[in-house]
Amino acid sequence: WVLMVTAQTPTNIAVIKYWGKRDENLILAINDSISVTLDPAHLCTTTTVAVSPAFNQDRMWLNGKEISLSGGRYQNCLREIRARANDVEDEKRGIKIVKKDWENLHVHIASYNNFPTAAGLASSAAGFACLVYSLAKLMNVQEDNGKLSAIARQGSGSACRSLYGGFVKWVMGKEENGSDSVAVQLVDEKHWDELVIIIAVVSSRQKETSSTSGMLETVETSALIEHRAKEIVPKRIIQMEEAIQKRDFATFTHLTCADSNQFHAVCLDTSPPIFYMNDTSHRIISCVEKWNRSEGTPQVAYTFDAGPNAVLIARNRTSAALLLQRLLFHFPPNSETDLNSYVIGDKSI
Ligand code: DP6
Repeated sequence: WVLMVTAQTPTNIAVIKYWGKRDENLILAINDSISVTLDPAHLCTTTTVAVSPAFNQDRMWLNGKEISLSGGRYQNCLREIRARANDVEDEKRGIKIVKKDWENLHVHIASYNNFPTAAGLASSAAGFACLVYSLAKLMNVQEDNGKLSAIARQGSGSACRSLYGGFVKWVMGKEENGSDSVAVQLVDEKHWDELVIIIAVVSSRQKETSSTSGMLETVETSALIEHRAKEIVPKRIIQMEEAIQKRDFATFTHLTCADSNQFHAVCLDTSPPIFYMNDTSHRIISCVEKWNRSEGTPQVAYTFDAGPNAVLIARNRTSAALLLQRLLFHFPPNSETDLNSYVIGDKSI
């Protein structure tokens, strides 16, 4: 027999960035972060996990290709979930797994991303969140999403925020064992549903410096990162939470853009410097800044993760439609810029 569970998890985009760890193994951040989870229909990971007495080792396939599960991050997630497994029964098929059987049973995992892996579109976030969630369902783990977020965090820091929809805060926590480093939902997906997210896929190439090694180098060499983590981000987190509660788009835009720019500034302050944005990214920033200034009130916020792709958050459907028009005019896909497509992270336009 084989028992299977399939789950789908959207990716999330940080508006106040996580960059830098205080514990590399447990994945504990040096500052709190806030993100927005995308509509599950777009940019998501679908994972099927299966268990069978016929399986003689844990195995995983990512986008159809087998990958190794020997890395510490996968092992940490699998161990933490197995430790919380419970009895599972499928009466119709006469299958019964008791708690202690899970120690000797192996799982097969097949995961698909409907977007480019490791191109700065936070694929590890959706990937580990989905892995942990589907394994937890298969093994009848009874923990709430907060506890599961602390397990997903051990796969990839940003993954902990994908266990919830809407706006989510990853609280860095103080405990050495990471027990209080969890994600909490600030507001659900209905709270601010006028927002429309458009992603300009500037390049789907694999990034040169992974987030993991990039942030390690920043913490080791940047003179600015400590100031950012200790002095700037804590204030921004308070202001951002208030802006989200009040649906204050002007403050939201100011904080989102400033935090993206500061994250890329600390990357530049790293030795050797890390360049995630390219000329097209810079031109998109100028275009949005100019438009926002000419309108008087901001129409769109931009943010860039560890790659050149622009995540644009429009205040409503009208500004999203106007934004798309502008972008298509200035940055037609497949032009001399290496922009290849636009992804609309919301069903509404
Ligand atoms: C720029 O979560 O990918 O997207 O914890 O080492 O797996 P690891 O890093 P990761 O870093 C994400 C960095 C970021 C900002 C963010 O999502 O907050």
